[in-house]
Amino acid sequence: MSEQTQYPPITIIVAIAANGAIGINNQLLWHLPEDLKRFKRITTGHAVLMGKNTYLSLPKRPLPNRTNIVISDNPDDHFEGSITVNSVEEAVEKCPHDRESFVIGGGSVYRQFMPIASKLYITKIHQDFKADTFFPEISENQWKCIEESKVYTDENNSLKYSFLTYQKR
Ligand SMILES: NC(=O)c1ccc[n+]([C@@H]2O[C@H](COP(=O)([O-])OP(=O)(O)OC[C@H]3O[C@@H](n4cnc5c(N)ncnc54)[C@H](OP(=O)(O)O)[C@@H]3O)[C@@H](O)[C@H]2O)c1
Repeated sequence: MSEQTQYPPITIIVAIAANGAIGINNQLLWHLPEDLKRFKRITTGHAVLMGKNTYLSLPKRPLPNRTNIVISDNPDDHFEGSITVNSVEEAVEKCPHDRESFVIGGGSVYRQFMPIASKLYITKIHQDFKADTFFPEISENQWKCIEESKVYTDENNSLKYSFLTYQKR
């Protein structure tokens, strides 16, 4: 797609550890019920775009009350209850222009959508984690932090986390 392309509004939503870690062995690295509730509240009623690995990692799939768009290299893949596409371009074409769509992972898909997304909803986890999947660098030249919550502490595992919103400059 050319740089002049008028993209539909696309937001990345992700939880990132202090060292950039987001996953290991096709799983998440923590269990944060409050973050999962927030994810559901924000994404319900919208299209959610994801890579095949992330789709297959979901405990309940497709994600209910959302248009699930799954990106796969394999033209024979058809995931039940989801729209399966074979490229980022095709995924973007499925997104409405009059409401926000959300990129929900994983690492490879986040990386490809950084030039396309206009907003980032980040849950920042204030701890390092051992991982095999990482979020790309968020460059201050390209992204401006417009909101930062207080620091919360999970009552079960004492994990500290906060919510940040970035807008593309
Ligand atoms: N912390 C968080 O908020 C968060 C959120 C979501 C996921 N995650 C974690 O992220 C990890 C998964 O990330 P990942 O990078 O391994 O996988 P992924 O991005 O979910 O999926 C990658 C797969 O999607 C397909 N794909 C991606 N781009 C494509 C393109 N342009 N054209 C066609 N197919 C494309 C390919 O499938 P084929 O196999 O068909 O080639 C590729 O192997 C897991 O650990 C998961 O738990 C973390």
